[in-house]
Amino acid sequence: MKKFVIGIGGVTNGGKTTLAKKLQKHLPNCSVISQDDFFKPPSEIETDKNGFLQYDVLEALNMEKMMSAVSCWMKSPRHSPVSTAWRNAEEVPILIIEGFLLFNYKPLETIWNRRYFLTIPYEECKRRRSMRVYEPPDPEGYFDGHVWPMYLKHRGEIESIEEIVYLDGTKSEEELFSQVYEDLRQELAKQKLSCKASLEGSSA
Ligand SMILES: Nc1ncnc2c1ncn2[C@@H]1O[C@H](COP(=O)(O)OP(=O)(O)O)[C@@H](O)[C@H]1O
Ligand SMILES: [Mg+2]
Repeated sequence: MKKFVIGIGGVTNGGKTTLAKKLQKHLPNCSVISQDDFFKPPSEIETDKNGFLQYDVLEALNMEKMMSAVSCWMKSPRHSPVSTAWRNAEEVPILIIEGFLLFNYKPLETIWNRRYFLTIPYEECKRRRSMRVYEPPDPEGYFDGHVWPMYLKHRGEIESIEEIVYLDGTKSEEELFSQVYEDLRQELAKQKLSCKASLEGSSA
């Protein structure tokens, strides 16, 4: 069965979860997996020499557990625990994986049909982050001492991946949604066409 897997990566507070939820509402048969649901318990998070808990690194996440959720969906999109209401059996099942550290994780490298990366400038990111309540709360200096430097490091690591579509997270939620939705409609149509062509090819 054909499937379509979308990655929404990007900076903390860039609007990943907001965009993913909005897309899910408008795309048929669309499930969402959020990387934030796979953080290890606080007792397993490393601390650096400044006493900052190292949350913004792959090691802070139980990626094996996230991969099992992804594999489960890939095997049987309709019956996986993250499945959504099945609206139109004709349409290809869609999975959105959203999180701050997706495209640096090698085992996922070949899964994507389309990848987006939300960016916002430093000041806006710091402002949005300061309005959120985290558990555990960000200590003084955490944004500059851990969050932002890790973001820059991870962003640098994926710079050479040409397929990633960068999105300006300072655009309005509505604008971002329309841009991505339109892009996805085109990508989904391309996939449909290529499936049809290969089916016709195999029956010729
Ligand atoms: N396009 C946008 N413009 C302004 N604020 C936004 C936008 N998208 C999301 N937000 C706000 O920014 C904060 C972080 O959004 P969220 O979707 O949770 O980000 P992420 O999942 O990337 O951390 C929330 O308070 C949300 O309401
Ligand atoms: Mg989020």
